[in-house]
Amino acid sequence: MKAIDPTTIIRAYYPADSAVYNLLVRHGEAVAAKALAVADHLGDPAVDRNFLHEAAMLHDIGIFLTDTPSLGCHGDHPYICHGTLGRELLENHGLERHALVCERHVGVGLSVDDIRNQRLPLPLRDMQPRTTEEEIICYADKFYSKKGHGEQTARPIDAIVAMLRRYGESPALRFQAWARRFENGRHSQGQAE
Ligand SMILES: [Fe+2]
Repeated sequence: MKAIDPTTIIRAYYPADSAVYNLLVRHGEAVAAKALAVADHLGDPAVDRNFLHEAAMLHDIGIFLTDTPSLGCHGDHPYICHGTLGRELLENHGLERHALVCERHVGVGLSVDDIRNQRLPLPLRDMQPRTTEEEIICYADKFYSKKGHGEQTARPIDAIVAMLRRYGESPALRFQAWARRFENGRHSQGQAE
C-alpha cells in the first residue's frame, strides 16, 4: 500500500498551527505511539505498522465538521458524528481503509443495536472495529482525551473502564478483553481482569 502523509491531509482542513490543529496532531501522535506499542507487544508481522500510524493520525479528522466549541470546532453536526464524517472525508481521498478506522473508533465501536437503542444520530450500520488494526486504534484512542490543551497523558486502564461502564457493562468488558490481549500484564496498575 502506498504511504501517505497524514499531516498534508490534515492541513487541507485545519489551519496549520491553530489550536485545533495542534490538538488533533498531538492527539493523533499519542494514539499512534500507543498503537505502535501494542503492535510491538503483539509481535504479529501481519499487523500493518505504517497503516497503524497513518490511520491513528487521521482517525479524528472529522471533528472540525462538528459543533464542539470546547475543541475549537464550529461545524453543524453533533460530536458523535465525527467518525462517519471522517469516513466520508477520507473516502473522498481514496483512503477507504483509513476511512473505516474513523467510523469504527467511537467508544469501543457501535453496533446497530447501540445506535438504535441510544437513538444516536447515525446511520444504522455496524460500526464496530473488525480488523486487528481497527481494534488497536480504537483501544489506543481511549487512553487519550482531547479535552483541555491537548496534554496527552495516558489515562489508567481502571479509569477508562469506569468511564465505559457509564454506557453499560458490555463496552467495559470489551475494553477489558482488549486490555488483556494488548497489554498482557505490562501494566501493574489497573490490570483489567
Ligand atoms: Fe481520538
